[in-house]
Amino acid sequence: MELGIDGRSVLVTGGSGGIGQAIVRTLAREGARVVVHYRSQAAEAEALAAEVAGVALGADLTDEDEVAALVEGAVAAFGRLDAVVANAGVWPSEPLPLWELDLERWRRTIDVDLTGTFLTVRGFLRHVAADPAAVEAPAIVLVGSTAGTYGEAGHADYAAAKGALQHGLLRSLKNELADLHPRGRANAVAPGWVATPMTAERLTEEAIERATATMALRKVATPEDVAAAVAWLLSPVAAGHVTGELVTIAGGMEGRLLHPPSARPEERS
Ligand SMILES: NC(=O)c1ccc[n+]([C@@H]2O[C@H](COP(=O)([O-])OP(=O)(O)OC[C@H]3O[C@@H](n4cnc5c(N)ncnc54)[C@H](OP(=O)(O)O)[C@@H]3O)[C@@H](O)[C@H]2O)c1
Repeated sequence: MELGIDGRSVLVTGGSGGIGQAIVRTLAREGARVVVHYRSQAAEAEALAAEVAGVALGADLTDEDEVAALVEGAVAAFGRLDAVVANAGVWPSEPLPLWELDLERWRRTIDVDLTGTFLTVRGFLRHVAADPAAVEAPAIVLVGSTAGTYGEAGHADYAAAKGALQHGLLRSLKNELADLHPRGRANAVAPGWVATPMTAERLTEEAIERATATMALRKVATPEDVAAAVAWLLSPVAAGHVTGELVTIAGGMEGRLLHPPSARPEERS
């Protein structure tokens, strides 16, 4: 099936990261013209943009002016902007219970993961609102996490940001985008563990065993698993009547394994 994203211009935030790179390559293979966003990894983003005949643009997504300039640059890059994948994010790796979580980390995580997504999406909506007829079928895909669905002990900051993004923000956004444009759609993906630089240190054999214990498909996702779902959601052909949906990409995960089986009360004595 043709996805119908050939020739469409898409901004992928966090295009320099593990999942972002896979999204960029997948969309480019489908014929999209991709703006590869980065914050610090300029060389990686530029090399990737050269590989896919795209354009690399840098911005700190916590800075309002930089995000506005990013969207403006993305529109200018190909003379149009049809879609955004709000994929950039941080996952502070140190597990800290809520009572030890300092305000600085809390604010930073919310700032990058939630406010950065808000600013990115707002920039795109302003672009659509300025001339709705110039955008054929505007589409947004937010990148959330299973942490936003099931929570994540030790990472309440991250879980709270992703939960807000993939529920309250998404469900408001899909109605507002449809008000702006009759074919405007917004969806989100919630990956579970994905093997990327963000998680490389934490994905030990034991961690994988535990993380996959509540999953039907007992494997950690690849970035390509996520990218394929993003491409489907962006497609006005394959997902043209899908909006406001959260697609979980976690092999049928049912939740968290809070206690190893040996910790069952009858086995403890
Ligand atoms: N990996 C997983 O297991 C997993 C699971 C569920 C959800 N996710 C989500 O998937 C998305 C991508 O994750 P990943 O694994 O690909 O992580 P990654 O490799 O660390 O990439 C993160 C990306 O976000 C960008 N970024 C970070 N802070 C930024 C800021 N302040 N302003 C602008 N850009 C910023 C980074 O840019 P630079 O590198 O250029 O600085 C990078 O491109 C994130 O939203 C993450 O929460 C990941």
